[in-house]
Amino acid sequence: MRSAALILTLVATVLGASVVPPSSWSYPYPWPVQYYNFTSQRSNLSMAYMDVSAANTTYASNKTIVLLHGKNFCGATWEDTARRLSTHGFRVIVADQIGFCKSSKPPSYQFSLQQLAYNTHALLESLSIKQTYVLGHSMGGMLATRFALMYPEITSHLILTNPLGLEDWKALGVPWRNLDLLYADELVTNYTSLRKYQQATYYVNTWKPEYDVWVNMLVSLYQLPGENTTFAWNMAEATDMVLTQPIAYEFGLIKSKTLLLIGAKDNTAIGKAWSPPEVQAKLGNYALLGKETVAKIPNADLVEFDGLGHSPQVQDSEKYHQALFDWLDRSS
Ligand SMILES: *[C@@H]1O[C@H](CO)[C@@H](O)[C@H](O)[C@H]1NC(C)=O
Ligand SMILES: *[C@@H]1O[C@H](CO)[C@@H](O)[C@H](O)[C@H]1NC(C)=O
Ligand SMILES: *[C@@H]1O[C@H](CO)[C@@H](O)[C@H](O)[C@H]1NC(C)=O
Ligand SMILES: *[C@@H]1O[C@H](CO)[C@@H](O)[C@H](O)[C@H]1NC(C)=O
Ligand SMILES: *[C@@H]1O[C@H](CO)[C@@H](O)[C@H](O)[C@H]1NC(C)=O
Ligand SMILES: *[C@@H]1O[C@H](CO)[C@@H](O)[C@H](O)[C@H]1NC(C)=O
Repeated sequence: MRSAALILTLVATVLGASVVPPSSWSYPYPWPVQYYNFTSQRSNLSMAYMDVSAANTTYASNKTIVLLHGKNFCGATWEDTARRLSTHGFRVIVADQIGFCKSSKPPSYQFSLQQLAYNTHALLESLSIKQTYVLGHSMGGMLATRFALMYPEITSHLILTNPLGLEDWKALGVPWRNLDLLYADELVTNYTSLRKYQQATYYVNTWKPEYDVWVNMLVSLYQLPGENTTFAWNMAEATDMVLTQPIAYEFGLIKSKTLLLIGAKDNTAIGKAWSPPEVQAKLGNYALLGKETVAKIPNADLVEFDGLGHSPQVQDSEKYHQALFDWLDRSS
């Protein structure tokens, strides 16, 4: 299977075209993984996704929800949420973005939120999905916002969980960091650095053994033979993307019914690590950012979790999903 993909790649290279096969990453996913194959930026790419049907037919609403993962996450991270949504009558589409997880990792790709939104929309078109809820976390929340802005007619509901992009970090003083330096940062990423970062931003300086699952999942991507350096490059490109492509000025243009689910102890801000202390002090105050953002969006509700950080769905699954389903039931 892998050698067949390799031969295909070699043949395509000789012909001047490029095929980037799906990732060889064998991490187990909770539902069958399918691939949407498409041509983008002169490469033939595969986008991995899971299509989970509604498990509760008595409650089947024929509603679809798309789940968008963050930069340090994969489709698999959504298992708990996807299972609950399926039981609640939703068809759940969980995609891995290009560059991430089980999808193709192109050695050269112009990452933009628009491109990733476009790819996701094309996947939904291939599945004949005409209307959907979109739920995004972290970078996936920033992407979900861009998706809702580009495709208002398909996005009936938008749900953002600790999204990136609630502020424009560069306008607040974060210096630009070139891709080669971002790549060097990614190359030295390991268990120690990931855990340190996640403990401080996702889990309010606490640690539980079950959080290790998601650190080890990422470590296996950073160590993936044959793909580790391309993955690191794609992650550097993703960091550049979120830093240089703000959405903070466009929340007023959102047409979808919107829910903000905010762990108020989150302090995530891209570029904080390489900013001077006086800039650092201004960034990533989610206790304020949630309130500021909900006021900008025409039809939005805010639920704040006072004691939770960047990943409320992991840190307190029951509380998070209670709030999510309360809103889904009220706003259908
Ligand atoms: C890439 O995909 C297109 C269809 O989208 C196909 O026509 C072309 O042959 C593919 N290229 C290679 C090198 O496989
Ligand atoms: C997508 O492309 C991969 C190889 O790149 C192939 O293994 C798979 O069968 C294709 N899937 C579909 C649905 O065409
Ligand atoms: C299906 O959904 C209904 C309504 O929410 C609920 O009462 C029932 O327990 C659910 N069934 C299963 C098997 O989850
Ligand atoms: C869901 O779709 C099926 C087939 O398209 C249809 O028969 C059914 O009535 C729909 N159910 C609801 C609740 O809209
Ligand atoms: C991660 O890298 C740092 C140095 O960059 C090193 O001190 C640490 O031991 C490494 N951790 C693991 C688990 O490899
Ligand atoms: C990437 O993986 C290769 C093995 O495929 C290994 O030789 C190399 O040291 C790894 N590079 C990094 C930066 O982890």
